[in-house]
Amino acid sequence: MSEALNQTNRAVPQQAGSAIPATAHVDATSRELLLGAYNVKKYFPIMGGFLRHQIGSVYAVDDVSLEVFRGEKFGLVGESGCGKTTFGRTILRLEKATAGKVVMAGQDVLALQGDDLKKMRRRMQIIFQDPYGSLNPRMPISDIIGEGLVAQADKFNGWAKRDIRDKRVGDYLEAVGLRRDYSRRYPHEFSGGQRQRIGIARALVLDPELVVCDEPVSALDVSIQSQILNLLSDLRAQFNLTYLFIAHNLSVVQYFCERIGVMYLGKLVEVADTDDLYAGPLHPYSVALLSAIPLPDPRVRKKRLVLKGDVPSPANPPTGCRFHTRCWLRDRLGNPAECATTEPVLRSLGGTRQVACHFAEKVTAEAVQATVATQDVIETATDD
Ligand SMILES: Nc1ncnc2c1ncn2[C@@H]1O[C@H](COP(=O)(O)OP(=O)(O)O)[C@@H](O)[C@H]1O
Ligand code: SF4
Ligand SMILES: [Mg+2]
Repeated sequence: MSEALNQTNRAVPQQAGSAIPATAHVDATSRELLLGAYNVKKYFPIMGGFLRHQIGSVYAVDDVSLEVFRGEKFGLVGESGCGKTTFGRTILRLEKATAGKVVMAGQDVLALQGDDLKKMRRRMQIIFQDPYGSLNPRMPISDIIGEGLVAQADKFNGWAKRDIRDKRVGDYLEAVGLRRDYSRRYPHEFSGGQRQRIGIARALVLDPELVVCDEPVSALDVSIQSQILNLLSDLRAQFNLTYLFIAHNLSVVQYFCERIGVMYLGKLVEVADTDDLYAGPLHPYSVALLSAIPLPDPRVRKKRLVLKGDVPSPANPPTGCRFHTRCWLRDRLGNPAECATTEPVLRSLGGTRQVACHFAEKVTAEAVQATVATQDVIETATDD
């Protein structure tokens, strides 16, 4: 699809004299496929030995397939180290995929080269987790936000010209709630929340369609988090954006996302609409993950389903189902061999729900309660 056609399809009217579009209506139910990731793998080599040769691999992302629809806020959750960031970076081609296919608005992202790749980079942007480390301390904000414009300058957009660039940077600073004259300042002059706004402006100034938000609020004070989440929501409507929102904080994803994918050790184990997932997770790992959400009232104590053992190393993942070494349901079912020998595929369980478990039909509220009852761990609600 050509850039011009794509712009037309997005139907975002431009305000006269401003780079900022007027608020557009986003119909999340239209279900136009924007991003398709199919069997994506990213293995990092482990080097060792006297000659520093490859002695193994970190299977950071191992055969992950998911689809994100235009206008959606799709959440990717899972414990630290399960491959969320690597997946996001791989689909953006910030990491070289080991295998798989990524289709963005009909284009084969991993096959793009040269000018086509440059155009695609503009359409897919990232907001980083760390608002301190992700901004170059030696560059003024105008250059930090304008850097991408310089890289993407052509004879049509005029971004090679400083005055056009500065105007656009100012427009986007205002769009994220900052003053346009902040462009002359340096990162150290801003608070964490303001820096994250600058990071958001840097991503949006290129007019992307898909934005990977990699834990964009987890480094911020709780009081600032909701401001940034609300800003991201508003910006989605204003700029007709689609988010792949990565987080480990389940309350944040529940609040922010419409659909969620749960990852465990490099694999996607469950995909569901947010309300369905939180009402009744169907993968044993999702059950344990969601049971760890603190209750809003700190005086209320709740029992949570505690998993045995630690997360195995992604350099040496368990055979069959990767979760089998810690799975409470497998224990309950008398340790069926299938769990350790056969990898479960992500299968549809009605509606939009997909689950990668041979025995997902056995995940019932009664089974969960009975398992929790056998554990003697009582948790008091705590803040994440
Ligand atoms: N550049 C890299 N080289 C080697 N291993 C890496 C690299 N980046 C990430 N990993 C490993 O890949 C796994 C997944 O990491 P990551 O994607 O950062 O997880 P998450 O974002 O879910 O916390 C981890 O075991 C991590 O140590
Ligand atoms: S396949 Fe077996 S080990 Fe894996 S989640 Fe299901 S019950 Fe547990
Ligand atoms: Mg991460």
